[in-house]
Amino acid sequence: MRRAFYLARLGKGSVSPNPMVGCVVVYRDKVIGEGFHHCCGQAHAEVHAIEAVLQGNVVVNRLMRETGLTPRGLLQESTLYVSLEPCSHYGKTPPCANKIIDNRIPRVVVSCGDPNPAVNGKGVAMLREAGVEVIEHFLEEEGRRMGRRFFTNVEKKRPYVILKWARSADGNIARKKGEPTPITGLVAQTLNHRYRTEEDAIMVGTGTLLADNSRLDARRFDGKQPVRVSMDLQGRLLASLQSDARTSVHFFDGRLQSFLFVSSGILEDYISLMTQSVCDWQRVDKESPAVLFKHIRHATGFRLIPVPDTLSADRQVPFYLEQLHEERIGSLIVEGGTELLQSFIRSGLWDEARVFASPETLPGGYPEPRLPEAVRRVEDKVLDGDILHIYRNSGIG
Ligand SMILES: NC(=O)c1ccc[n+]([C@@H]2O[C@H](COP(=O)([O-])OP(=O)(O)OC[C@H]3O[C@@H](n4cnc5c(N)ncnc54)[C@H](OP(=O)(O)O)[C@@H]3O)[C@@H](O)[C@H]2O)c1
Repeated sequence: MRRAFYLARLGKGSVSPNPMVGCVVVYRDKVIGEGFHHCCGQAHAEVHAIEAVLQGNVVVNRLMRETGLTPRGLLQESTLYVSLEPCSHYGKTPPCANKIIDNRIPRVVVSCGDPNPAVNGKGVAMLREAGVEVIEHFLEEEGRRMGRRFFTNVEKKRPYVILKWARSADGNIARKKGEPTPITGLVAQTLNHRYRTEEDAIMVGTGTLLADNSRLDARRFDGKQPVRVSMDLQGRLLASLQSDARTSVHFFDGRLQSFLFVSSGILEDYISLMTQSVCDWQRVDKESPAVLFKHIRHATGFRLIPVPDTLSADRQVPFYLEQLHEERIGSLIVEGGTELLQSFIRSGLWDEARVFASPETLPGGYPEPRLPEAVRRVEDKVLDGDILHIYRNSGIG
């Protein structure tokens, strides 16, 4: 089963909003086939593992010679280990339970039940009705931890939320509020970019977008780019775009899918600036905001998401998460600054915090957010001078 968990993780970053799932087929203590779910919409782990046997491989070929059995014959005496209950419904692919039954695999060991209402016990029931022996809840806690993004999505109806910031040895995130301040070294930054490729979206507050002009991409690591998310509730970003002083905002460069939460009161201003800019863009300077808005119109997936003006401050974080869940964002990294991170901490709607700590100090700097005392630090990683502290909120995370 641990091999199945290992395989499942190979799908990290590309299966969302589907779960990461791994599967291993074992004939008399020998692994004869394995597979994992590679990509949303494509074949499930069980299909890959069973096909790996049917199509033959070095181990299968040797066992065929030794036993005289065909690949189908081997399957009929094997045990299939899978990290998540096999599906029972026709989604983008046919039910995996049928594939197991059709291939007469006599025994299935499952780590976690699938809470998706379309499955939720029906996969196991189908197998048992067909006479397959099923062992459930095997290494279940480890399985739920491995699949925590998916379980959070289905059970809590929100993305899995990772808080991230970089702090100095004296607990500051910037030299002063509003001043971009590099804090950690290259190894920590590269690891952070790798983490970005593993999640669906990355969010920063208005203050950070204005101060740092963040690119919010994973340029230091090869992989999937996250959706960029930010917000403009008071029109501060809009004012900065309208002013001649602001020449380029990476968030609007049109390279990546981006969502901007804007208060309903300024939605029209955004739309009108975008429309006007599309008409005028050939007449304006290359660097003007109008050109940026031309890019918005041509960028695939730029979304303005209206936020009701009446929304109270304590409802903002739940609102962002509800909207992102509807957009099928399965996991979100919140990368600062302090105000936005603190509002996630206050809401309790977060699962994991990754705090990159530098040995350098920033006396009199802008303080980091504060985690509640009860939050557990579960891991430290030493990174060439910096240290990554990982904290876990209670629950699935
Ligand atoms: N070291 C690090 O890891 C790191 C990371 C990020 C940023 N920084 C630094 O942090 C500084 C900016 O931090 P900050 O705390 O001022 O800015 P921030 O958290 O990025 O932005 C705060 C602003 O976001 C808007 N906002 C919208 N919804 C919010 C919500 N639910 N909760 C909180 N804010 C919400 C508000 O703007 P309105 O008032 O306009 O509505 C608020 O003033 C910069 O100096 C930056 O360089 C450091």
